Amino acid sequence: MTDTDAGTTGALDDAFRGDVLRGLGSDPRAIPARWLYDHAGSGLFEEITGLPEYYPTRTERALLEKHCPEVAEIAGTGHAVIEFGSGSSVKTPILLQAVDPAVYVPIDISGDFLRESAEALARSFPGLPVAPVEADFMHPVTLPEAAQKLPRIGFFPGSTIGNMVPRTGVDLLRRMRDNLGEGALLLIGMDRVKSETILVPAYDDAAGVTAAFNLNLLDRINRELDGDIPRGKFKHCAVWNESHSRIEMHIEATEDVDFTVAEKRFHMGKGETIHTENSHKFKPRDSRLLLRAGGWEPIREWTDDKGWFSLILAEAAPDRFAP
Ligand code: AVJ
Repeated sequence: MTDTDAGTTGALDDAFRGDVLRGLGSDPRAIPARWLYDHAGSGLFEEITGLPEYYPTRTERALLEKHCPEVAEIAGTGHAVIEFGSGSSVKTPILLQAVDPAVYVPIDISGDFLRESAEALARSFPGLPVAPVEADFMHPVTLPEAAQKLPRIGFFPGSTIGNMVPRTGVDLLRRMRDNLGEGALLLIGMDRVKSETILVPAYDDAAGVTAAFNLNLLDRINRELDGDIPRGKFKHCAVWNESHSRIEMHIEATEDVDFTVAEKRFHMGKGETIHTENSHKFKPRDSRLLLRAGGWEPIREWTDDKGWFSLILAEAAPDRFAP
């Protein structure tokens, strides 16, 4: 690890401590989902993507395989492909194969992850320039020079947009539009609303991998923030929130419990929870409204036979002063 890395880690530690202390002290208790993805958490999420109950990854992959050639037909070749949150080593090659871009720009907040996936991609696409950008894509990003004068395609798979409440999602879409500029395209994956009997098991699988993924946050807090949270007194819970059209993950206290984190004392009563993740699900109109609110006009939408997941191609909407 270099000095710069150590500095970054220090800032990250501070941000983690700040979010956890604030989240445990707020009502309702909530901790941002990004903290689920430490090394162990990222590994568990990888495992989730292969579970029989977790349909999004395989459904989206099949959609990409089937329809990326059409994306290429619409877009043409010679683009810069810009991926928001890199690391989907399975999905990205499908798009790159089809659109044969002039440069690939993965943007990710985790430098380690970014370098690993950039190297892997450069190996499978020997002629393709890869220009990774280590940045939080929620903030303005300067695109590398190689991408500046090319037409651009943004890639935002996995229904990651669904992790954001609409206000944050719209902020991000607008930011992407500003970053990519007029005339740009965006290929985005959005998970659809479906029966609760499908949705809930996808986030509470029989093998308990999602439970381990969620409860891993307690281990991380104990390890990194000198906590003594008794993991055995908590359980994973996934609920469908109909009004917000989202699956919520919570960590629920199964009995009254007192614990310490970073020298602060906390109490939770039996049945109280810490909200750890939202995964919004969209009806076709919801996704169009969200995209339009963010300055993107949907031009094609593809879905699977069951209508469980959708892949949408949108273009940066021109600014208009009149209807
Ligand atoms: C990677 C955020 C899209 O919300 O489906 C999977 C994360 N959480 N199981 C999702 C997740 C629990 C996943 N995203």
